[in-house]
Parts: sequence; structure tokens; C-alpha cells
Amino acid sequence: RQGGPLAGCHVVISAGGTQEAIDPVRYIGNRSSGQMGYALAARARDLGARVTLVSGPTALTPPGAVNLVRVETALQMQAALLEALAEADLLIMNAAVADFRPAQAAEEKVKKQGDAGLTLHLIPNPDIVAGLADRHDFFKVGFAAETNDLLANAQSKLERKGLDLIVANDAMSSIGQPEITLTLIGRAGTINLPRQPKAMAAAALLDEIVVRFGQWRAA
Ligand code: C5P
Repeated sequence: RQGGPLAGCHVVISAGGTQEAIDPVRYIGNRSSGQMGYALAARARDLGARVTLVSGPTALTPPGAVNLVRVETALQMQAALLEALAEADLLIMNAAVADFRPAQAAEEKVKKQGDAGLTLHLIPNPDIVAGLADRHDFFKVGFAAETNDLLANAQSKLERKGLDLIVANDAMSSIGQPEITLTLIGRAGTINLPRQPKAMAAAALLDEIVVRFGQWRAA
């Protein structure tokens, strides 16, 4: 729509989980489905934004009229985001980025060696959003899925990663569940969204992000 609240804005959204290769057929991954990020992208588009969706592998049908960039690894996601963020107004960092990757992916499929176990040597991936702490040309939203001390952990991530807003959720009550409870923590205070189906939560969340983004822009 031409006249929506995000008309003229470039919104960059990351979604899904990254996959880090162990060998040509195996990877280290996580349980992110990408649902929330895809729904946020559709909503941002409906509010008038030009949307770039940088996505790890998912089983989802991509939303129409959105620029979809498919990636597999954290390093690929970082490169795709940096390119998209050359000119952007809002970053919503929803992807579940692997914190570690195998130091080296084996060139051939790893074979079983009798009864021996297998030790993988993992090295850290860059924290993509924390690496953008010096960028103040767009509004930055991050996510914190926690299993304990939800609000304290989210608050410390907000500060440590230089975010403008962080969306906290209790991982245990949301993973694999149809409904989710979200809490938004930012400089303008904390807001609790009611527990609701994930598609509705995504729309309500994007609408709240738009309000905060508007305040940031006007300041
Ligand atoms: O994994 P963690 O809880 O620290 O992630 C919080 C936020 O940081 C999320 O928005 C996630 O997308 C982002 N993140 C990132 N790069 C990483 C790990 C997390 O940008 N390597």
C-alpha cells in the first residue's frame, strides 16, 4: 500500500536458523521455524515498506512482494545483512544465529571409526547484531528467547548488543507451541503483549515496533 506508516522505508528482517556444515551432508542447526520472521516481513510489506528478508533454510512459503535472500550459514547471513543495510531504516534481527560453527567442514562425509566417538571442534561465529553497535542510521530490534531470568537476560542483551528495542519471550512456553507471549523492552519502557497465536503476535509486535520506530525517528 502506498500510504502505509512504513511507506518509503526499507525494512530488513532476518529469519530462521542458520546451518553450519560439519561435512557435505550434515550440519549443526537449531529449532527455529522462521514463522515469526516471515509473518513480520508480510506485515511490514502490508504497512507500505520495501522489505528485504534474509532467511536461513525454512519449510515456509515466502511472502509475496518481498525481496528474499536465502542463506545457510551465519557468515553468509552477516554478509547478506551488511549488503541490505547499506541503506535501511529498520532492522529486525529475528534469526536464530548459530553461536558456533565447526572450525572446518570436512570435504568428504565423515565416516564411523569402529566404536570411536567423534569430537567436533567449534569456533565462535560473529555476533551479527552486536557488530552493528556503531551504526545509528537505522532502528535496531533484537530478540531474546530465554529459558530463565527472562527480563534480566533480555535487558542485558539490549545493552550489550546496542539495540534500540528487544523482544523477549520465554523459550520453554513458546517453542513448538501455537501461541506466544512477548515482552518488548526499550528505552521508552516495557510492554507486555497478551499470549496469542503466533501470526497475531507477529502482527501486534510489528505494529508496536512501528510506534517505537516512529518515536525514534522523530527524536
Ligand atoms: O542468541 P542471543 O540470545 O544472544 O541472540 C539475541 C539477539 O542477537 C537476536 O536478535 C539474534 O538474532 C542476535 N544474534 C546475532 N548474531 C549471533 C547471535 C545472535 O545477531 N551470532
